[in-house]
Amino acid sequence: MGLHEKFKLKSMEDLSNKIEALGIHIPVSADIDVLKQPVKLGDKVVPNSIAIQPMEGCDGTPAGEPDELTFRRYRRFASGGAGLIWIEATAVVHEGRANPRQLYLCRKNKDGFARLLDTIMEAAKEQFGPNYRPYTVVQLTHSGRYSKPEGKPAPIIAARNPYLDPYLPDEYSVISDEQLEELEDRFVEAAELASEIGFDAVDIKSCHRYLNSELLSAFTREGKYGGSFDNRTRFLINIIDKIKQRLGDAIDVTLRLNAYDAIPYPYGWGVDKENYRKPDLTEPIQLVKILRDKGVKMVNITCGNPYYNPHINRPYDSGPYMPPEHPLEGVARMLGVAKAIQESVPDMVVLSSGLTWLRHLSPYIAAGGIKEGWFKIAGFGRMAFAYPDFARDLFEKGALNEKKCCIACGKCSEIMRDGGKAGCVIRDAEIYAPIYKAGREGKPPIQSDRLAEHV
Ligand SMILES: Cc1cc2nc3c(=O)[nH]c(=O)nc-3n(C[C@H](O)[C@H](O)[C@H](O)COP(=O)(O)O)c2cc1C
Repeated sequence: MGLHEKFKLKSMEDLSNKIEALGIHIPVSADIDVLKQPVKLGDKVVPNSIAIQPMEGCDGTPAGEPDELTFRRYRRFASGGAGLIWIEATAVVHEGRANPRQLYLCRKNKDGFARLLDTIMEAAKEQFGPNYRPYTVVQLTHSGRYSKPEGKPAPIIAARNPYLDPYLPDEYSVISDEQLEELEDRFVEAAELASEIGFDAVDIKSCHRYLNSELLSAFTREGKYGGSFDNRTRFLINIIDKIKQRLGDAIDVTLRLNAYDAIPYPYGWGVDKENYRKPDLTEPIQLVKILRDKGVKMVNITCGNPYYNPHINRPYDSGPYMPPEHPLEGVARMLGVAKAIQESVPDMVVLSSGLTWLRHLSPYIAAGGIKEGWFKIAGFGRMAFAYPDFARDLFEKGALNEKKCCIACGKCSEIMRDGGKAGCVIRDAEIYAPIYKAGREGKPPIQSDRLAEHV
């Protein structure tokens, strides 16, 4: 079975056969009606069990307000039928922006975000009637070692890391305990703004090696934010406690959590100490239980680092290196991690990641996972760029149109790395093919024949 094998699964039967041939376990269900089920989150309701994952478009204004293409994207998402729209990485301080056009939620940008929420609600109501309301989450972030607020790397790290530091430029700073404490308050201020605007929830982003994700694995950091479990989770827990103190239940608090970094211990989190290729979810489960007891009702589970080991993060057909496994094994890992978390907190809503590689067959695994209790909401990332109305098509026609699906070609990520505005080069070519071409000029071609040295 070649690792480079082209995607050629046509039917659910092909998919089941492939799962069996690879010796992995992923539930598959032909009955996709389960995806239409509303999901209760406290006194709110997500109108169905499909979510659009946070997908950064890198298309805000220089000040960090949503701009033309941002509004277009969210209008398309909202009329596309997913019950939950998880708005992309949104910085809480300028220096923590991952690019000069990353969204930035601060008081002077509040009106722009209010217009974004209005746009989402208007588009959704226009399509599905006046009583329809998708659940909205804003992902609050500090990009940490991947900060690039002026377009060139300006890393702010939580701890040294021999696997990731070789990619750092000569100049970088290690964030101090005092700075972290101050930063907690910037997250709280952004949460307050999100609440004033009327978003349903804020996500205290804890994934993909951005600052707070790095803190969770800061085993080697000295001081009160490093070393012990209590110290490494302090930043996240302080932010949640402060939001609850300031805002009570006015806004839900959730998080997108890297439950498994796939980087060796003591530099990665959720990994087996002897073998980083295996998850050890003891600490992630401990954390999620603490958060549940604090009133957090939902957790969006993800794995890996999109810069360092992207095949773990988003199973793909073409990417910066050839993955050492079949993409379906990556899907199985991601869903298996979600399952373990869901089983440990059965009353919480676990949202799963990493389904897009499955294309038109993704609904059968989304439905299978929900039926078997692996997770309660199925999240779709790249699919939403390619096919923003995939949920509506699925509900109305009973299946996805193969010709509209994402093909996991990696071009949306390449646009991001090239500093452009991200979208689907293949299915939304009129807008994004020229951006992709311009960004690639003078760049080396995608190196999908090279096996990652580091995975
Ligand atoms: C272009 C691009 C932008 C992304 N932006 C974000 C983001 O803002 N926040 C986040 O948590 N994940 C982000 N992701 C990761 C996706 O949400 C998702 O986890 C990943 O693509 C795997 O899911 P999928 O198989 O459904 O695409 C991004 C991924 C891509 C390719």
